[in-house]
Amino acid sequence: MEISPFFFVTAGESHGQGICVIVSGVPSGIPVAEEYLRKALTRRRLGYGRGPRMRLEADEFTITGGLRGGVTTGNPFSVIVWNTEREKWSKLMSPFVPDESERITRPRPGHADLAGFLKFGYRSIRDVIERASARETAARAVAAVICSNFLQLFGVKVIGFVTSIGNVKADDIPTSVEELEKRVVASELFCPDPAIEEDMKREIDAAAEAGDTIGGTIKVKAYNVPPGLGSYDQWFKRLDARLAMAVMSIPGIKGVEIGAGFQYATVRGSQIHDEIQPRGPIRSYGEEETLLWNDVKWFERLSNNAGGIEGGVSNGEIIELSAVMKPIPTLKKSLRTVDLSTGEAALAHYERSDVCVVPAAAYVCECMVKIVLAAAFLEKFGGDSVRDVRAAYHAYLSRLKEVRF
Ligand SMILES: Cc1cc2nc3c(=O)[nH]c(=O)nc-3n(C[C@H](O)[C@H](O)[C@H](O)COP(=O)(O)O)c2cc1C
Repeated sequence: MEISPFFFVTAGESHGQGICVIVSGVPSGIPVAEEYLRKALTRRRLGYGRGPRMRLEADEFTITGGLRGGVTTGNPFSVIVWNTEREKWSKLMSPFVPDESERITRPRPGHADLAGFLKFGYRSIRDVIERASARETAARAVAAVICSNFLQLFGVKVIGFVTSIGNVKADDIPTSVEELEKRVVASELFCPDPAIEEDMKREIDAAAEAGDTIGGTIKVKAYNVPPGLGSYDQWFKRLDARLAMAVMSIPGIKGVEIGAGFQYATVRGSQIHDEIQPRGPIRSYGEEETLLWNDVKWFERLSNNAGGIEGGVSNGEIIELSAVMKPIPTLKKSLRTVDLSTGEAALAHYERSDVCVVPAAAYVCECMVKIVLAAAFLEKFGGDSVRDVRAAYHAYLSRLKEVRF
């Protein structure tokens, strides 16, 4: 399988020194402010339903390459997000000296605990927990900042938000991107419907009181994405498939839909495919105009059930993806399990945990969509520098603004 020249990898353990990320194939010339990285890491930690530690702790990070004077250089962008409690954990997590003071043997249903223990043959489930933990998503949030800043240079905006918690569903989702963003940023639940927030909070509080956890649904929308990202020429280039994989790779995400998704099963073709009509009058554009896809578009759809992707290629409409996040599996009221040291019935291990992480997961979904779109954008428009990408992008839009090809 061909690997995109733009990719990222992560390493590190939840309670080790820190989590690191290397983003490769980054063009030179993307502005990255320290404040923006800080905000991204903070957003991943917040949201109603998380424990007090998450709200108080600040993420510390060190950039070890790829950025100079607030602008990417084109070298691999590498960052370590430190574990601020690393001193406290240093003996247990020592890379050289074994520490037998703790042995976790009661796997939590819903976590990687049992599968990871069997697969790798560890002595303690600690070794599974450390890497399967969603702490790794801090590294993804860092990688996504580069992608977000890059996409913004071309007017592409991506927003992830919560659409339900348990049985409480958001109803009022604004169509304007500005209003949607304003509401999502202002909400403790990253939800654009303020009328439903108190009900959602009550749902989370009730789960907490019962020693339980709760999940929900998420939507991500990407605006101003030009047509032509992704491809149908090979299965692994399809943009919908790549988005689904990226979002499904987030711990706890159990389903992904593009556009109308599962609704396609019950309706007839005539009711759901997005008809096309001219968006006139056709304008003429000066050569020097700064082009954004939405400004040159000369057709429109009567609906967007395809969620902006047909045949694995972006079709110029808003990209829309939904995902479902399961209730997190570490429960205060532990579930039944087997003790791996005795083979006897037992109650599952409890490790500090939250009650609901759907808001944080919505932000991580937004991050993964940004990463996939940036990679697909760079595949189409190439270039080692933002200047080269911009030139290729403008040449492409100049071609698209002609009605007859
Ligand atoms: C941002 C975020 C935070 C999470 N926090 C917790 C947590 O505090 N406790 C927990 O049990 N699971 C948490 N999870 C979910 C687990 O990491 C996940 O369910 C587990 O690794 C098993 O993976 P799977 O659900 O994809 O099978 C979190 C997930 C995300 C995306």
